[in-house]
Amino acid sequence: MLRSKGSDFVSEYEFKLNDGKKLILRPLRSEDLDQVCEMERLIFESPWTRLSFEKEIDSCFSHSFVVIDVKIIAYIITWIIRDELHIANVAVHPSYRRYGIATRMLNFVTERARQSNCRLVLLEVRKSNRQAIRLYKQLGFKIDGVRKGYYEQQNEDALLMSYVMNQ
Ligand SMILES: CC(C)(COP(=O)(O)OP(=O)(O)OC[C@H]1O[C@@H](n2cnc3c(N)ncnc32)[C@H](O)[C@@H]1OP(=O)(O)O)[C@@H](O)C(=O)NCCC(=O)NCCS
Repeated sequence: MLRSKGSDFVSEYEFKLNDGKKLILRPLRSEDLDQVCEMERLIFESPWTRLSFEKEIDSCFSHSFVVIDVKIIAYIITWIIRDELHIANVAVHPSYRRYGIATRMLNFVTERARQSNCRLVLLEVRKSNRQAIRLYKQLGFKIDGVRKGYYEQQNEDALLMSYVMNQ
């Protein structure tokens, strides 16, 4: 379970994995960007630039978080636009996968957005990204449609997925 150590909207949260390991989830900060960009380049074929992450820190729409063991091991970038939560980027370090960390991050941002009166969660995912699609389906997301050639460099389609929150 996520436990608050401070106020709901600026705080640091501690949670435990099934093996008892404690991790910290907190908002993304400028000093995280070296590690986040290194992970981004390791994980993605078309990584976000450092400037893209810097813009997230400055944007009032952006609600972005990192998960820390000793170093940063995961991050999630989201935007709240009106009553919609947009999932823009999610990544977990390869050594920390299948421990439920992405699930924790997604549940955290969704619950937080629900408290801000969001009702809909939206995202795009590569049609070939079977692990991410399985993750989102497990969390209750449905496929709404396809954006043809959305990922231009690889000419790959995106699936549009959404999740309607309970009141
Ligand atoms: C997709 C990703 C974020 C999942 O992170 P994670 O912390 O390992 O995910 P979780 O442990 O919360 O997994 C939850 C569920 O997702 C599905 N899933 C996750 N990884 C999977 C894999 N490699 N193969 C099949 N299903 C997988 C499973 O249903 C899993 O539940 P289970 O472990 O009980 O079977 C991670 O693999 C990653 O960073 N991938 C590269 C970046 C990426 O694709 N981001 C998403 C862009 S839209």
